[in-house]
Amino acid sequence: MAHDTQAINRARNLFGDQQQIWLFGYGSLIFKADFDYLERKPARIDNWSRRFWQGSHDHRGTPGAPGRVATLIESPGTVCAGMAYLVTPEVFDHLDHREKNGYLRFTTEMTFHDGEQAQGLVYIATEDNEAYLGPASEEHIAQHIFSAAGPSGPNDEYLLRLADSLRDLNEDDPHVYSIEEHLQALKKD
Ligand code: SIN
Repeated sequence: MAHDTQAINRARNLFGDQQQIWLFGYGSLIFKADFDYLERKPARIDNWSRRFWQGSHDHRGTPGAPGRVATLIESPGTVCAGMAYLVTPEVFDHLDHREKNGYLRFTTEMTFHDGEQAQGLVYIATEDNEAYLGPASEEHIAQHIFSAAGPSGPNDEYLLRLADSLRDLNEDDPHVYSIEEHLQALKKD
């Protein structure tokens, strides 16, 4: 799949003529909301796991030395916690640009803390995109993140801010917290 997903995402009109859409964020969209929204609240989606298996050429790395950022992997029986934003359609030009390095819009059902559910959108980088890196041990991922940086800043900032945000939300994520632990050890050396 193309390196830049903006055109594909523009053609995927998944919200019809809806004027308000719920967007589910699970990575940098949790801690960096650089777009207008009407409302935001914690939410989860079922049967997906957050994994640092996506390469970043444009934010936390470069094409020659990609960083590692989060994507979602289908895994029945699991839950991924994140933040939901109620947005208007105009916001998607900005979001498509921000998520252009391999992420595609998908529809998803999300569940809020009060048990209410809503249909919405989520950006997922699937394994057929050119920047996809795939599985590695948490220790290896931490080493990779430790040495990467890109136009949006050091790669470790992404991981550490995400871990802090998940703690603020009282959410457990063994994958993220294990990478964080390895990263903290590397930073101490
Ligand atoms: C997301 O946060 O929902 C997508 C991945 C990212 O931008 O980090």
